[in-house]
Amino acid sequence: MSFEFLVDYYPMLLKGTGVTIALALITVFFGTLIGILVSLTKFNAKGMLGKVLSKLADAYVAFFRGTPLMIQLFILWFGVPQLLHTRYPSFGWISAEFLVGAIALAINSGAYVSEIFRAGIQAVDKGQFEAGRSLGLSEKQTLKHVILPQAVKNILPALGNEFVVIIKESAIVSVIGLRDLMYNSDMIQAATFNAFGVYVVAAVIYFILTASCSKLLSVLEGRLHQDA
Ligand code: ARG
Repeated sequence: MSFEFLVDYYPMLLKGTGVTIALALITVFFGTLIGILVSLTKFNAKGMLGKVLSKLADAYVAFFRGTPLMIQLFILWFGVPQLLHTRYPSFGWISAEFLVGAIALAINSGAYVSEIFRAGIQAVDKGQFEAGRSLGLSEKQTLKHVILPQAVKNILPALGNEFVVIIKESAIVSVIGLRDLMYNSDMIQAATFNAFGVYVVAAVIYFILTASCSKLLSVLEGRLHQDA
């Protein structure tokens, strides 16, 4: 085993790492947004429309948590264009692969995030809600000033964990040809036949990314607990 390949190929690894980071950031942003909206939909199951939306939200979560991410990605990448007789567009530096990879990851992550929010909010003792209401706060005010501040402490660790998962799971987009860290590692392996060296380096880079993410989140969490 040697790491000589790094001399020639480190720019490719850096480029792939950049793509992986960009993909993870975009996924985390939109995944969290989707997750919040979906969990709100579930809590707002009042009236005819509310009930329908809530059922749709349930189906969404069940499907995206209950099927492999790779199949979801393939349905979006191969299936949808076939159905619609079109091809995905690309926008400047945003390739079609990046677009579809980010959409698939964000939709998948949103399903997990919505459950994180639901569980985090429901874990706050019911008495807290009743206390807020009996102090004369409206339902919305209770949620905002009493429930959510406590729920955040349940939500944040799990959400942080989801961010770390996304960094790792993003490697799956390499199968549709998105030139992320995984894809570029495969390319370097194919060119050098140094499977061990290349994949160990790739693993180290992924680890640096996930470990920094974890570190950042634990600092944030520490601050939150200080405020309490
Ligand atoms: N590998 C799993 C799958 O194929 C992971 C899904 C993504 N997980 C997540 N927390 N977003 O379904």
